[in-house]
Amino acid sequence: NKLCRFPLKSVRGVPLMEPIAQKWDSVWAFCPDPSDLLIATYPKAGTTWTQEIVDLLLHNGDAEACKRAPTVVRIPFLEIYSPPPIPSGLDLLNAMSPPRVIKTHLPIQLVPEGFWENKCKVIYVARNAKDNMVSYYHFDRMNMTQPEPGPWEGYIHKFMKGELGWGSWYDHVKGYWEERERRNILYLFYEDMKENPRREVERIMRYLDLSLSDDVIERIVELTSFKVMKDNPMANYTFIPKPVFDHSISPFMRKGEVGDWVNYFSPTQLQLFDEDYERQMKTVNIPFRTKI
Ligand code: PPS
Repeated sequence: NKLCRFPLKSVRGVPLMEPIAQKWDSVWAFCPDPSDLLIATYPKAGTTWTQEIVDLLLHNGDAEACKRAPTVVRIPFLEIYSPPPIPSGLDLLNAMSPPRVIKTHLPIQLVPEGFWENKCKVIYVARNAKDNMVSYYHFDRMNMTQPEPGPWEGYIHKFMKGELGWGSWYDHVKGYWEERERRNILYLFYEDMKENPRREVERIMRYLDLSLSDDVIERIVELTSFKVMKDNPMANYTFIPKPVFDHSISPFMRKGEVGDWVNYFSPTQLQLFDEDYERQMKTVNIPFRTKI
C-alpha cells in the first residue's frame, strides 16, 4: 500500500480505511489473552489521553518508563494499517507478550470475539458528538491517510449519516453503552475527565484492581494534563511526521477542550444537527451533558 488518502470500504456495513478492510480477516482472527486490556473509542474521543493514564497507572506513575516509546508502540492500535516505517497494529501485538494494552476504534460488533470470550477488561471513552466531530474534522485535514474531509458543511452530513471512518458515532456510543453491564465495560466520558481528572483516574485505577498512593495519583493527573501531554514527544504524535500527519495543518493535540463546537456550528446547522441527534439517540439515555 502506497501512502495516500485511503478510500473507505465497508466491513459488515461499517466504513473502514481500505487497507483495514483488505486484511479484515486477520484482524477478526486476533485472539487476545485474558490479561489483555482493550481501550475502545470512536476516533477523537480521548483515546490518547486514556492510553497515557492507563500506561502510567500500570507503571506506578513512572514518567520515564512511559516515555519508553511512542503511544502507538506502547499501546498498539489493533486494526490499523500504518505506512512503513510505522509498524501496523497486528505486527506489534504479535511481537509483544501479554498482558498488553490494546487500542481500537472498532464498533462493538466488530471487536474480535476473543475479547469477550476471554472476558478481557475493556475501557470505553465517549465524547459528546459535536466536539468529537470538530476534532475528527481537523484530524481528517491533517492525517494524509484519512479521506479528505471536504468543507465543514458537508462534513456534518457525513457525520450524521455515519459515512466517516469507523462509521456512525451514534451506533458506536450506543453499542458499547447497551453492553456495558453485561460485558463489564468501564464506560467513561471525556467531559467527566475534563471536569474532574482525579476522580476519573481513580475510577480507572479501581477497574484495573490497582491501588496507588495519593502522591502517585496526583502525579498521573499532572502528567496526563493536556498541557503536559502536548509537550511530551512520546504522547503528542509528533513521532508521526509528514507526510503522514501534517501537524502544521492542525496539531494532533489541538485544543483539548469541551465546547469548542460553538465556534463551528451556524444556527441552522445546530438546529439540523440537534433534531437529527434526538432522532438517532432517542432509543437510549446515555448521560452526555445536556448543555453540550
Ligand atoms: S485518536 O486519533 O482517535 O486516537 O484521537 P484521540 O486521542 O481519541 O482524540 C484526540 C483529541 O483528544 C484531545 N486530547 C486531550 N484532551 C484533554 N486532555 C488531554 N490530556 C488530551 N490528550 C488528547 C486532543 O487534543 C484531541 O481533541 P481536540 O478537540 O481536537 O483538541
